[in-house]
Amino acid sequence: MRRPIVAGNWKMHGTRADNARLIEELLGGHPDRAAAECLVFPPFVYLQEIGRLVRDTPIGLGAQSVCAEAQGAFTGEVSAGMLKDVGCSHVLVGHSERRWIYHEDDQLVARKFAAAQSKSLVPILCVGEHLWDRENGRTEEVVSRQLDAVIDLCGVAALESGIIAYEPMWAIGTGRTATPEQAQAVHAFIRERIGGRDAKIAKATRVLYGGSVKASNAAELFAQPDVDGGLIGGASLNAEEFLAILAACGSR
Ligand code: PGA
Repeated sequence: MRRPIVAGNWKMHGTRADNARLIEELLGGHPDRAAAECLVFPPFVYLQEIGRLVRDTPIGLGAQSVCAEAQGAFTGEVSAGMLKDVGCSHVLVGHSERRWIYHEDDQLVARKFAAAQSKSLVPILCVGEHLWDRENGRTEEVVSRQLDAVIDLCGVAALESGIIAYEPMWAIGTGRTATPEQAQAVHAFIRERIGGRDAKIAKATRVLYGGSVKASNAAELFAQPDVDGGLIGGASLNAEEFLAILAACGSR
């Protein structure tokens, strides 16, 4: 059974006071009663403090990125071991803002995936196409390339202890969500692609959808057979919205 996940990517938002309020409001909404796993991804500097606030609660903690190297002279970077040390269990790798704004390529993302797993962090591998890829019929080609880079470096078995998030770049922060049918088609394709290497792992791997998910559209997206929850940006900064999205995510 694939337990669904609702993960809140806070991106570069919040203050210590905002975060404390948000966590308090989320805990007040009884995330333990949800069928889905609930995770938050605050900025690096707040991880330790949020880690304290969510310890022994149903809210899990993740980071938004990780360095591919274990330690050394890499100014500005944060290693998987450090994330583990401050209480993270998960980490995003290859978010489209990292790929696009900070030029992270498929090979670097694959090395980050491996670095996370080497410290027993669960990597959430983000994949997704630009609008111009979709318009030129290249969605599957792009997603395959992003997926295969990780499978080639880490082996298909590595996906079993990881998570995939399909986030079409044209839907992130734009208010333009993929239709449930568009999301389902790419999710099914991802599962099929993994299934080409290992059918059992394809069936077990959780594939989240991300891109302008809101309380108002979550249920129809999560009702799709291959959508195992969501990676939520903007709407994760509002407790009421985020809790409503969590509630919309039933078990499968
Ligand atoms: P959004 O962001 O929900 O604000 O579109 C999703 C993401 O980037 O993970």
